[in-house]
Amino acid sequence: MSGEFVIVLPSSEWLVESVRKASSEEMAVEVAYGKVFPDGEVYVRVPPEVKDKNVILVQSMDSPQEKALWELLLAADASLNAGARHVIALIPYLAYARQDKVFLEGEPVSIRVLLKAMHAAGIEGIVTVDIHNPKSLDEFKGETVNVIPIRELGEAVKQCVENPLVIAPDKGALHRAKMMSEYLGAEYDYIEKKRDRMTGEISMSVKEMSVKGRDVVIVDDIISTGGTLAKATEMLYSQGARKVVAAVSHALLVGNALDKLRRAGLRKIIATNTLRRREGVDYIDIMPTLISEARKLL
Ligand code: R5P
Repeated sequence: MSGEFVIVLPSSEWLVESVRKASSEEMAVEVAYGKVFPDGEVYVRVPPEVKDKNVILVQSMDSPQEKALWELLLAADASLNAGARHVIALIPYLAYARQDKVFLEGEPVSIRVLLKAMHAAGIEGIVTVDIHNPKSLDEFKGETVNVIPIRELGEAVKQCVENPLVIAPDKGALHRAKMMSEYLGAEYDYIEKKRDRMTGEISMSVKEMSVKGRDVVIVDDIISTGGTLAKATEMLYSQGARKVVAAVSHALLVGNALDKLRRAGLRKIIATNTLRRREGVDYIDIMPTLISEARKLL
């Protein structure tokens, strides 16, 4: 008998309620047993009932990322050993995705290494959210789905701004801002950085449009240290914006990121629940979309 068995890995236990809510009644949902040995090695055990089932492993790669990665790889192997028919991974936040190329000689392409390891462990498909560079997923020798949560974030954005202007923090993020602007029926633009050839100073401004008196929504994939968003927010206020909010897929918010953003005057951070809850963020549950996409791969 086949069927779907959703295994939430120990590092992602905080996601289990969302997973249960998003799963249909006939789907089994369990948290895998896990521990760390005294020497630091990671151990995981999946329920034996995965035999003859299609398994969805749920693991967000929040910090510590290495533990999350090991649990995922080991659980894929364990599921196949226990007789699972197919194993796919639902990874709301896929870590190491920003090292997607060799920036400096001697560096690895970290995301490629992760994707190869996942395939080697027996994972046949991946569903993730707004990976930094979607092209990275081409490195995975199986099916992949990259969910860009425009509808989910857009609904929340509509509640807090009027006639907004959607802004990408750089040209590379323009596709996301364009999608959001289409969803909201709003205009969009991006922030351009210019270097003064004489002084070397970098200045930022919105490429084409005026932000004077406008509500501005900055759309990005990730807030990590908050540096990008804080600078963009300060610049937008200095150019006359009325209100600045941010809609991001992943709120990592490391260190004093939140303080930085508050000091810059950012009024709201809306994010999907791809990472553990952080203070100061309004979360949107993305799990129904992810579970539905994962089931399509099986
Ligand atoms: C950059 O390309 C990314 O899209 C984000 O803008 C960046 O990673 C955010 O990092 P931080 O919050 O540390 O500035």
